[in-house]
Amino acid sequence: MAYSFDHIIERKQTNSTKWLKFSDPDVIPMWIADMDFTCPEEITEAMHERIQQGVFGYTDSYHNLTETFVSKIKENSGWDIKKDWIVWIPGGVVGLNVACKTALAPGELVMIPSPIYAPFTEAPENMERGFVKTNLKDVNGRLELDFDSVRSLLTDDTKMFSFCNPHNPGGTVFRPNEIEELSSICKEKNIIVCSDEIHSDLVLEDDLEHISFANFNDFNQENSITIMGPCKTYNLAGFPIAAAIIPNQELRSDFQRNTKGIVSHIDSMAFVAAEAAYSKADIWHSNLLKYLRINKLMLLDGINEIEGLSLKGPEAGFLGWIDCRESGLENPSKFFIEQAKVGVYDGAWFGDENYVRINFGCPKSVLEEALSRIKKAFSQRI
Ligand SMILES: Cc1ncc(COP(=O)(O)O)c(C=O)c1O
Repeated sequence: MAYSFDHIIERKQTNSTKWLKFSDPDVIPMWIADMDFTCPEEITEAMHERIQQGVFGYTDSYHNLTETFVSKIKENSGWDIKKDWIVWIPGGVVGLNVACKTALAPGELVMIPSPIYAPFTEAPENMERGFVKTNLKDVNGRLELDFDSVRSLLTDDTKMFSFCNPHNPGGTVFRPNEIEELSSICKEKNIIVCSDEIHSDLVLEDDLEHISFANFNDFNQENSITIMGPCKTYNLAGFPIAAAIIPNQELRSDFQRNTKGIVSHIDSMAFVAAEAAYSKADIWHSNLLKYLRINKLMLLDGINEIEGLSLKGPEAGFLGWIDCRESGLENPSKFFIEQAKVGVYDGAWFGDENYVRINFGCPKSVLEEALSRIKKAFSQRI
């Protein structure tokens, strides 16, 4: 099957959150994390077939998806997960919330790196648990854990660490030495790690590979909740499906108990879409990666030509975290949106208003247009 990522799709007619955000019709929306591509045809075909059956209803277990997912994880990262470690949940953010409720008693804290995708900090608030932020270091454009800060901020009440690997918004793919250091701190302090690895199938560098926190050593495996899912990789954002992988049986039972009566059933179409994604969309996925690599290079060149802006990553994903600290702009996202007409995500939502996040999961021509607008707006600044 031939895939084209160049085609521009009219999305305003689809009630797209991304495309309905800006009242100014001239703004190109490049904020929330869904891509402007159709998802693999193999997925829509599978959904058509399922719709033809015409009968729906509760679908609480889905054996084929579990089998397919287990082999996919093995193929992608060598991690040998057991089928009964998987708890299917209606979305990654649900997993972050249930993890907080499960791993933390009232009064206990989760440590959260910052900046980060805002639902990480919203989760403990929703669950009436506490959190403490550890600031990531920007090391030549790569967001890295500051282990001195992590150590100095830990208290006896810190019982969980929220890890996002690859990181959103920085796109960092954490290396073995980084995972090892985090693991040894967590082991020493008896801390559970909730590792959100939803962007893990989108590594953009040939010499990098994603390492699951849980697959690193026995301690990690027994003391972690890993969140994965098809929604970012196959452009199924908004579909209510993700996997919480919890090898520790006691932790898994607690997690499952905490979903009862609150977390909804997974939509039967989401199961169908996820299974087709993991079993039939490999070629689409590798074509997507090629396309994103080219877009990323175009974005890097375009942004780094502009005085005051800088971008080095991402190592994975389709989101660029643009450093605007040298731009002298008081409100960078306002400038991008109102002057350049490029609808970026305000870095403040992630915890740092001196950055903006841009989604480059779009046709090349759209990215080119956005870059030329940004360049023009910066050249006309007074
Ligand atoms: C790190 C991370 N986790 C979770 C999600 C959202 O997952 P879901 O839509 O399945 O709740 C996102 C979406 O951008 C994300 O970047």
